[in-house]
Amino acid sequence: MSRTIILGIESSCDDTSAAIIADGVILSNVTAGQAVHEAYGGVVPELASRCHQQNIVPVVSEAIKRAGITKEDLSAVAFTRGPGLMGSLLVGTSFAKGLSSGLRIPMVDINHLQAHVLAHFIKESEDDTDQPSYPFLCLLVSGGNSQIIKVTSYKDMEVIGQTIDDAAGEAFDKCAKVMGLGYPGGPIVDKLAKLGDPESFKFSKPQIKGFDYSFSGLKTSFLYTLRDNIKFNENFIEENKENLCASLQKTIVDILMDKLRKAVKETGIKEVAVAGGVSANSAVRQAFLDHADKYGWKVHIPKFAFTTDNAAMVAITGYYKYLDKDFCSYDKTPFARVTI
Ligand code: KG4
Repeated sequence: MSRTIILGIESSCDDTSAAIIADGVILSNVTAGQAVHEAYGGVVPELASRCHQQNIVPVVSEAIKRAGITKEDLSAVAFTRGPGLMGSLLVGTSFAKGLSSGLRIPMVDINHLQAHVLAHFIKESEDDTDQPSYPFLCLLVSGGNSQIIKVTSYKDMEVIGQTIDDAAGEAFDKCAKVMGLGYPGGPIVDKLAKLGDPESFKFSKPQIKGFDYSFSGLKTSFLYTLRDNIKFNENFIEENKENLCASLQKTIVDILMDKLRKAVKETGIKEVAVAGGVSANSAVRQAFLDHADKYGWKVHIPKFAFTTDNAAMVAITGYYKYLDKDFCSYDKTPFARVTI
């Protein structure tokens, strides 16, 4: 029987990525990042779309080559339709349309947020059975989102809690920025935190109802701590950056896990996954392992390659939609803003 082979394309922000998945098993996943944004302390949309234009052909060619297939073997092309930066999304969408029409294969449109959740279903080999069972809860934490999602099937996802202001990744990035650390700040804070004492500073935690999150109060409290201490010691940040990072990281992780525990308790669902860029954070990963031990949760922590934006998650989502014959027509345009 012939295999179902899906090409996934991801271009929602500043990573151009292409991946090949055959019958649910990953064959390749190639990503070109964009260092150009570092100098600006954040992603510059116009520069991002230009870089995608330059990268998309070599990245897709390399993914096909590394998978050991030819483009004629493809069953379908799946692409991120949104949410994301409009110019960036347009590059992936237009490329997918061209390829699908040239090869006469179906095109599958993918919601980037759903793809992050379904990254847990990417198989490393045919006998890889380490996937979540439905229903499960997924904590989706990235630069733009902090959500608790109840997942009952690959296409049935309900957001039961979300941030009312900043996302967890933004809290990491913005606090790192005020300390004069580089961009993106999350991985730098993670690294410095390993050398600091998480109990050295106390920052405020939100009191929000239900399963929703808020990180703007923490950001302000962090800023005030710096401001008040710099008055007396102009080297305060430099002398305390490890302790500041460790305390900031602990507060963010506590906020995330407090609400997640509440969601597990109220839904009775103890199968819990984490996804998105912030799931690369060492303290978040450790907190999941600790909760598995302490509360009997069955936890799913993604491989590092599948935490930040990648096309393998787009290809696996495309694979499930392809099996359902859920295809997309050529008149579809990207969505810059869309929820799960
Ligand atoms: O999912 P993602 O790659 O992009 C979107 O936002 O869609 O997530 C990027 C976010 C950034 O805020 C980055 O600082 C954060 O993930 N991040 C981390 C770590 N690695 C990436 N935050 C904390 N610790 C990390 N190790």
